[in-house]
Amino acid sequence: MRFLKAAAVVALAFTASSAFAQTVKIGFISTYSGLNANLGEYMERGMRLYIKQHEKELPPGVKLEIVVRDDTGPNPDKARQVAQELIVRERVNLLAGVIFTPNALSIAPLATEAKVPFVIMNAGTAMISTRSPYIARVSFTLWQSSYPLGQWAAKKFKTAYTLVSDYGPGHDAETAFSMAFKAAGGKVLDSVRVPLQNPDWAAYLQRVKDANPEALMVFVPAGKTATAVMKTFEDLGLKKAGVKLIGPGDITTDEELPNMGDVALGVTTVFHYSAAGERPANKAFVAAWKKEYGADSVPNFIAVGGYDGMDLIFEAIKQQKGKLNPDKTMEIFKAYKNPDSPRGPISIDPETRDIVQPEYLREVRKVDGKLANVEIDLIDKAVKDPWKELQKKK
Ligand code: PHB
Repeated sequence: MRFLKAAAVVALAFTASSAFAQTVKIGFISTYSGLNANLGEYMERGMRLYIKQHEKELPPGVKLEIVVRDDTGPNPDKARQVAQELIVRERVNLLAGVIFTPNALSIAPLATEAKVPFVIMNAGTAMISTRSPYIARVSFTLWQSSYPLGQWAAKKFKTAYTLVSDYGPGHDAETAFSMAFKAAGGKVLDSVRVPLQNPDWAAYLQRVKDANPEALMVFVPAGKTATAVMKTFEDLGLKKAGVKLIGPGDITTDEELPNMGDVALGVTTVFHYSAAGERPANKAFVAAWKKEYGADSVPNFIAVGGYDGMDLIFEAIKQQKGKLNPDKTMEIFKAYKNPDSPRGPISIDPETRDIVQPEYLREVRKVDGKLANVEIDLIDKAVKDPWKELQKKK
């Protein structure tokens, strides 16, 4: 009798605790093969570092499960397929990740239909966030960097040439830069769009050299593509010819600087994140990264997208004690603020669900013998996506 009673108590306790146990399942989609295949790992490492540091803050009984899928590069069909599978078969509570714009665009309608909040940790074309009320973006838009870059460049150069990858973020970088540069009196000599995959860099950069602009503004996706541009810029002698290379920070992405070499010295960019940022929160982040992934490993903006994106997700989990309601989750996302991100103070704009963040003017210099994106000026401590701000004025 006594034994039975004890067993009943145990059974009851077991049911009670399993009723409280709550698993939050996150479908993480990133790029591990195809174009710039190493970028997915940076994003995942950023996300996992955050989880390791903060898991103990999860409400009691709440567990995280991350289901990882490779979208194989800019491949909207594959991205749609894996997102569908994560929603229908894996029944994830949230979708997160995504390096490339075309992939984010193909996932957006699925997020809306299934009411699954979708945290974008990289893809940067401005209009993406208008494609689903279930999107929140913690990364950036190309307008946030390229518009102030155009304003700055007009103070330094009379003529510029733009060269961008021919897809969403390239078109945004080109438009934002040119609009700001021209409005401030600059002249754009030519604007060239090149294929996203395997363009003949030498042919395009020879045309730039022949046009002899004072500045060349380039957007290409970060990673190996940026290094390819930098190498060809050097090989064709554009630097020696006096053409100043500028762009959003994708072209001097931190992890590739050692592969680019000294041609990168003096390249000026506008961006929201540099591993060389002097903020205490960034110093702590970079130190934790090196401890986890090796002294030679350097985090980039994509790693910070994963890291801050997980902070956003933790906020929703904590406030709802692990029982996620999609609409409540979006309300929490819209009120999100973090005064102490590695990039500086950030928040989500409740109107657009896009990140509001500092933008810095940076120049590649040598620090302790290593190339680094040194932040030389704070352009503004809270930049909203300028494209959406200009739309409002229309
Ligand atoms: C994008 O496809 O939106 C994208 C990819 C890589 C970048 C920036 C934007 O560096």
